[in-house]
Amino acid sequence: MRPLLAWYDANKRDLPWRANTDPYRVWLSEVMLQQTTVPTVLGYFDRFLARWPTIGDLAKAPLDEVLAQWAGLGYYARARKLHECANVVAGARGGRFPETIEALQQLPGIGPYTARAIGAIAFDINVVPLDGNIERVTARLFAVALPLPQAKPKLGELAQSLAFPERPGDLAQALMDLGATVCTPQKPACQRCPISQDCLGLRKGISQSLPLREKRAARPSRHGVVFYAERKSDGAILLRKRPEKGLLGGMLELPGTDWRAKAWTDHEALAHAPAGSDWHKAGRVKHVFTHFALELVVMTGFAARLTPGCFWAKPDQLADLALPTLMKKALRITRP
Ligand code: ADE
Repeated sequence: MRPLLAWYDANKRDLPWRANTDPYRVWLSEVMLQQTTVPTVLGYFDRFLARWPTIGDLAKAPLDEVLAQWAGLGYYARARKLHECANVVAGARGGRFPETIEALQQLPGIGPYTARAIGAIAFDINVVPLDGNIERVTARLFAVALPLPQAKPKLGELAQSLAFPERPGDLAQALMDLGATVCTPQKPACQRCPISQDCLGLRKGISQSLPLREKRAARPSRHGVVFYAERKSDGAILLRKRPEKGLLGGMLELPGTDWRAKAWTDHEALAHAPAGSDWHKAGRVKHVFTHFALELVVMTGFAARLTPGCFWAKPDQLADLALPTLMKKALRITRP
């Protein structure tokens, strides 16, 4: 793996969490990067660090504030677990992350991948974490033709066989960068690859088709209607908090109907409207979740009074509230 590390030294991406290997920074970046792309995470990482420079600061922050800062990164259970983990580490562990893979994996929100990534990058433990990029590089390098997800354990073992004990963190990140910039899903740039000579997939002419994936079932559709209920006197709108458990747990939303397979008629939907007047359809937003695609109709009107379970949010407060991307899209229809 020496050629790969030499390539990394010359070509590594300049990413803010690579400035040093402080475990807090490594952990924060790895949790943010779970299921989210590097460009999306960039701004969030710097903002979090500026606001909460140490794990103790993050632990002391109110959860609602953490959720509000997380808004837009998706998978909000990650933000709750992040906060929970900060509290465990800052509390019972005196501000220090444990330094074994097993103990890291006991912490909230840290699974096998994240434990190994933190272990390799922050503590120089000789493990190779398996993320999407490393899965692809490994499948091609060893010409693994078994489909994912069944191939995962095999790919994990093969990735581990690439370990480089002198520089575990750099090896992991070199594989990630190779996957992100050279060994890309479409049209890999094999002529620029520092380890193409070792690539069995390339030799067999099948690298671009790897890794194979079991066909996923089509995503079902869901439909809902939300109400932008405005107070005439000052433009404040009704919002409510979603249940703590479940999808978008603890995040805020416009009041509305359930999300169901069948589209709502206006008549059916209006039975769920807050007390108010002048309801009219302002538009619709589409949003894809992991397990379904949602279409929300946004109805706008004037609220007659506060609805139980809701609160008033003034227009200038909206930016600081824990509104998920879906709801930001819905708000933008009425407040472009
Ligand atoms: N994806 C997950 N962790 C990463 C890291 N440390 N650098 C680049 N991409 C990543």
